[in-house]
Amino acid sequence: MPSTFSRRDLRVLFVTPEVYPLSKTGGLGDVSAALPAALRALRVDVRLLIPGYPQVLSGLKYKRKIAKFDTLSQFPPATLLSAKLPVNASTSVPVFIIDCPGLYQREGGPYLDESGQDWPDNGLRFGLLSKIGAILASDDSPLAWHPHIVHCNDWQSGLVPAYLNFHSGEKAASLMTIHNLAFQGIFPPGSVAQLGLPSDSFNMQGVEYYGNISFLKAGLYYCNHISTVSPSYAKEIQSEPLGFGMQGLLLTRRKSISGIINGIDTTEWNPTSDPHIPRTYTSNKQSTKAINKKALQLAMGLDVDPDIPLFGAINRLSHQKGCDILLQVALELIKIPAQLVVLGSGMAELEVELTTLSKTYPTKIAATIGFNEKLSHLIEAGADGFLMPSRFEPCGLNQMYSQRYGTPPVVHATGGLLDTVVDCTPATLADGSASGFLFNDMTADDFLKTIHRAVTAYHNKKIWRRLQKNCMAKDFSWQASAVSYREIYLSLLSSPNIS
Ligand code: ADP
Ligand code: GLC
Repeated sequence: MPSTFSRRDLRVLFVTPEVYPLSKTGGLGDVSAALPAALRALRVDVRLLIPGYPQVLSGLKYKRKIAKFDTLSQFPPATLLSAKLPVNASTSVPVFIIDCPGLYQREGGPYLDESGQDWPDNGLRFGLLSKIGAILASDDSPLAWHPHIVHCNDWQSGLVPAYLNFHSGEKAASLMTIHNLAFQGIFPPGSVAQLGLPSDSFNMQGVEYYGNISFLKAGLYYCNHISTVSPSYAKEIQSEPLGFGMQGLLLTRRKSISGIINGIDTTEWNPTSDPHIPRTYTSNKQSTKAINKKALQLAMGLDVDPDIPLFGAINRLSHQKGCDILLQVALELIKIPAQLVVLGSGMAELEVELTTLSKTYPTKIAATIGFNEKLSHLIEAGADGFLMPSRFEPCGLNQMYSQRYGTPPVVHATGGLLDTVVDCTPATLADGSASGFLFNDMTADDFLKTIHRAVTAYHNKKIWRRLQKNCMAKDFSWQASAVSYREIYLSLLSSPNIS
C-alpha cells in the first residue's frame, strides 16, 4: 500500500452484494448507493465492487474490461469490468463488476432462485466476491488503483478480511459493517477447501462457527474494525437474543465496534421533487399531500375518504418485520376506523394471509405482493401514518422516508427505530421533537394501543400538523454519518496492516 498519505488521497474499496438501482432487495442496496456518493462528496475516493448479475450488466452502459481472474482456486474464470454508477443527477460512483457467467448470469434474485430458495452455490458466488475484494485490497492486485481501506458489507463480503489475514504481502485495513446479523452466510465445513482457505482456519479462532463455516463470523473475527448501522443496534447485538449466537465474539471485540446511523438519499426521497408521486409537496402545503392520499386510495381500490386515517407498510414480509403482529391487528385497525395498505413480498404464508385479508375487505385493506419501487414512493406520500412493528431493526430506512414525507411512523422501540423516531408526548410536542409513536412490548396489544394513540393525534388537526412539520424538518441526510465513516477509515490507517 502507498507509503505516503494525505487525507485527500483516502481510497476505499466498498464491497457489496447489491446496489440501487441495479440490484436491490432491501436497505443495503440503498445504502450502497448513497453512502459512497456522500463519501465522494467528502473527497474520499470510494469505488464499489459488485457481482455482475444480469441486471447489473444490462444496467451499466459503458463497461471496460480491466482484469482477468482465471486461476482462483476452485472458482470459475471471471473478468473484472469497470464502469460508473449514476447515483443521482449530480453524482456517479466508479464501480468494479465481477463478470462471472458461471456464478451470476441467471434468472432469479441475487441470493434466491425463482422459487425463493437460496442458490445452492451461494458459498462460491460470494466467496468469489470476497476473494476478488481481497485481491484488489492487496499487493496482488492487477490494478494501479490500491485502496487503503476495504469496507465490507454483510456476510456476502465477510471472507474478505479472512483472505487478507492469510495474505503475507501488503494489504488494506478492513471495516466490516453489519447490516443484519440474522443473515450469517453459513456453509458446510467442506467449503473451506473449496474456497481456498487454509484448513487450520477452520477453528473457533477462525472461520468455524458451531461446526460450519460462517462468512459473517469470519469477517467479524478477522476485520480491523466493526460497525453497524445504528448506535442502539450496536449495543443490542452484544447480548442475547439479538446477538444471534455471535454475542460472545462481539463482546470480546466491543472496543472495535461503532454504531453509525444510516442516512437516506434525500434527492431520491424528496416529496418536493419526487417524480414517482402524482403531486409533490412541501411541509407548508399539506393540502397537496391529500392529493396523493386520494391517488393511493384510488389506485388500491380503497374507499376514497380524506378523513379516514390511512396507514402504510412496506417491507420484506418476514419474522423480523413483525408482519405476523401486523396481521393480528389488521381487523381491529379497520374497526377504528382506519385503512391499511401493505406492499411486500417474502414468506409465502404471510403473502397468502395478506392477500386473503385484502380480498375479504377490499375497500379497507389493500395488499400488493411484489417489489415495486414506484408504489413504495406513493405509499410514503399518500399514507397518513406508517407502520413498522419490527421485532428488531438494525437501522430501517422506511421510518426515515416516511418522516421526510410527513407520514409519522408507528414503530417498535428497537435498534435504529429507537434512534430515529421520537415518541409523541406532550413534552416532545412542546419541544418540537415529536415525530412518531413508539411501542415497547412486541405484542399485538401494545402495537394496537399505539396505533390508537396515533389515530387520536390524527384527529386533532393542530397536533397532527405539528407532528408532520417536525417530521419533515428532520435532517436524515448522509452528511454527518459519512463523516463518521471517514473518521473510522482514517483511524484505521495506523493499523499494522498498512505501511
Ligand atoms: P431491510 O433492508 O431490512 O429490508 P430497510 O428499511 O433498511 O429494511 O430497507 C428496505 C428498503 O427496501 C426500503 O427502501 C424499502 O422501501 C424497500 N422495500 C422493501 N420491500 C419493498 C417492496 N416490496 N417494494 C418496494 N420497495 C421495498
Ligand atoms: C438491513 C437491516 C435494516 C437496515 C439495512 C441497511 O437489511 O435489516 O434495518 O436499514 O440493512 O443498513
